[in-house]
Amino acid sequence: MIKLGIVGLGTMGTLYARLARQNPAVELRAVCDLDSARLKTATEQFSGVSPYGDMGQMFAREPLDAVCITTPDFAHLEPVLAAAAARCHILLEKPLATSVAEARRMVAAIQESGIRCQVAYANRWTPAYVAVKGMLEQGELGRLVSLHARINNTRFTPTRMLAWAARSSPAWFLMTHALDIASWFAVERVRSVYAVGTKGFLTGLGIDVYDTIQALFTFESGIVASIESCWILPEGMPLIFDFQYEVVGTESAAFVDTHDQMVHLATRDRFVHPKTLLMDYRGQLVGHSQQMFDSFVRAVEGDQAPLVNELDGLHNVEAIAAVHESLRTGTVVQLAER
Ligand SMILES: NC(=O)c1ccc[n+]([C@@H]2O[C@H](COP(=O)([O-])OP(=O)(O)OC[C@H]3O[C@@H](n4cnc5c(N)ncnc54)[C@H](O)[C@@H]3O)[C@@H](O)[C@H]2O)c1
Repeated sequence: MIKLGIVGLGTMGTLYARLARQNPAVELRAVCDLDSARLKTATEQFSGVSPYGDMGQMFAREPLDAVCITTPDFAHLEPVLAAAAARCHILLEKPLATSVAEARRMVAAIQESGIRCQVAYANRWTPAYVAVKGMLEQGELGRLVSLHARINNTRFTPTRMLAWAARSSPAWFLMTHALDIASWFAVERVRSVYAVGTKGFLTGLGIDVYDTIQALFTFESGIVASIESCWILPEGMPLIFDFQYEVVGTESAAFVDTHDQMVHLATRDRFVHPKTLLMDYRGQLVGHSQQMFDSFVRAVEGDQAPLVNELDGLHNVEAIAAVHESLRTGTVVQLAER
């Protein structure tokens, strides 16, 4: 049995607690959060789990094999350093960090301790993206030429879902996902980044963050990915997120629309796209995050390397940091060769 802890019991931490409970190879031993009300709810929901308000105590007292780190975007460093010091394998929410310096410290700590780290880019387990990856590997699309993605949220996310939206951005929270898919498809690194953005709506609500960001990423061989992330779509959208991709090769092009979800529901007063990529079916979670979590468990058991690791996470942080640098300076930002 893999003894698991969780640091950060919000939306994602609670999801992983459920995924841990439904995986027979995992024993959910301990949960940690600064918020005592969240700890109380978690211990009621997940009986037998030890609650901690201090992660240092959790790592010192619990013989953990692995930990899920699901703190806000800007608060991943300390839990990663603590987990590495305790030699606990890590499932880490994206983005790795919101600064390159922090991401490098994390990678160094992870590699020095010899643990495995999987970054939770769950879209790598979304069937449509797995299908396109297969087409690229089989040569069905020919040589990859360009990518175009939109990954957006309704304004619910920065105004009511994330208490810490002003300490993140549409690029750290959203674009990072589409960039990870682009890097996975391209199998090469980003060389340069140019970005533009708009501000006004969210700053008017006291949340000092971009409303929209559009970025051009040029990869080593010249492949170009244009990615748009918007945080202010109206709440009348059929689903909270809108994630679409066009993948153009020299032979064929593939088009993915995960916003569609394959099922549309018209009720008396609403038209919605119920989530089918991660579903609650008879009390069990079924879908991409479940497969991503189970894949982490196999990595901890030693059966396979993580599909997306700390170096992928670091490269993503370098490119998203370059997006913000380009927004600030209005210039094309070159990424250093490693
Ligand atoms: N919400 C989503 O749909 C979603 C989806 C994918 C990924 N993510 C990523 O998951 C991470 C968590 O997001 P969330 O939406 O679950 O956030 P959240 O705000 O719902 O939960 C974060 C929790 O971490 C706790 N916390 C903060 N600092 C802590 C510390 N030092 N020690 C212990 N607990 C601490 C907070 O009290 C809170 O309960 C983020 O990196 C986010 O980008 C979120």
